Amino acid sequence: MIHEAEILSQRRLAPDIYRLELFAPRVAEQAQPGQFLMVRTSISLDPFLRRPLSVNAVDRRRGAVVLLYRVVGRGTRLLAERKLGKRLNVVGPLGRSFTVPLSGPVVLVAGGLGIAPLFFLAEVCRQRGNEVILFYGARSQEELVLRRELEDMGVKVFLATDDGSLGERGTVVELLKKKGLPPAAPVYAAGPPPMLKALAGTLKDMGREAEFSLEERMGCGVGACRGCAVKVREGENFVYRRVCTDGPVFKAGEVVWE
Ligand SMILES: Cc1cc2nc3c(=O)[nH]c(=O)nc-3n(C[C@H](O)[C@H](O)[C@H](O)COP(=O)(O)OP(=O)(O)OC[C@H]3O[C@@H](n4cnc5c(N)ncnc54)[C@H](O)[C@@H]3O)c2cc1C
Ligand code: FES
Repeated sequence: MIHEAEILSQRRLAPDIYRLELFAPRVAEQAQPGQFLMVRTSISLDPFLRRPLSVNAVDRRRGAVVLLYRVVGRGTRLLAERKLGKRLNVVGPLGRSFTVPLSGPVVLVAGGLGIAPLFFLAEVCRQRGNEVILFYGARSQEELVLRRELEDMGVKVFLATDDGSLGERGTVVELLKKKGLPPAAPVYAAGPPPMLKALAGTLKDMGREAEFSLEERMGCGVGACRGCAVKVREGENFVYRRVCTDGPVFKAGEVVWE
């Protein structure tokens, strides 16, 4: 489960957003949409903790695994500096994946880098022949990365930006309310907590269930430190679940937003 993966490519897609391709045949073979890797971002033990990054795509034939990430702090900055041909130490694939339906349309809702796990899900659904409808929002046009690749895959893409530079001006949740959802299509979402919270409320009003991929700061990534706990409903009670092993994919209706 620990892999020394060679860096095959590293591309900057937008200011601060990078796409990194690794040679990791066993990960490529096993990974399912929604799962993540714990990545050692530097060659030293500083920063000590690995950083969780979702699997963005796999190419099983070439043994390649793709990560998509935004530089937000020290770990991701060091990752952006890693050079081709060098090895990256990763653990995974980890966590619970999305439940992919065998047939029928699916709706994906991505806020910003939430597109990272949903791109992989879109790819798998298209390969199975599902119709895929994506609502994709970001701060501005340049941050709507991979939208052309998704359209080329045959995904029906609706865009929203905060500044109105592409698609509808406003949030992706407002866009979804305006366009509506096909009946009975399962909904999958990933993005920042305020977006997921707003979406959970909207879907509840619509009487729709969904699966959300959650992000919490992680210590170990394998269920040992309990640093990634989230509050969820269990019957009449509340319990804490670990995002790394019980998630990161949870049913939208069970998450308690505080
Ligand atoms: C299961 C999972 C999958 C993820 N997938 C992706 C992905 O595919 N692409 C991507 O860009 N990011 C993803 N993230 C978030 C990513 O792990 C953090 O951005 C990264 O760990 C930050 O490390 P850093 O050292 O650069 O920043 P730090 O210096 O550690 O932190 C910088 C800032 O980012 C915030 N932050 C750090 N970690 C997280 C986190 N886990 N969740 C939310 N905010 C955080 C901090 O609060 C701080 O404000 C994922 C997180 C989880 C839990
Ligand atoms: S990160 Fe340690 S228990 Fe989840």
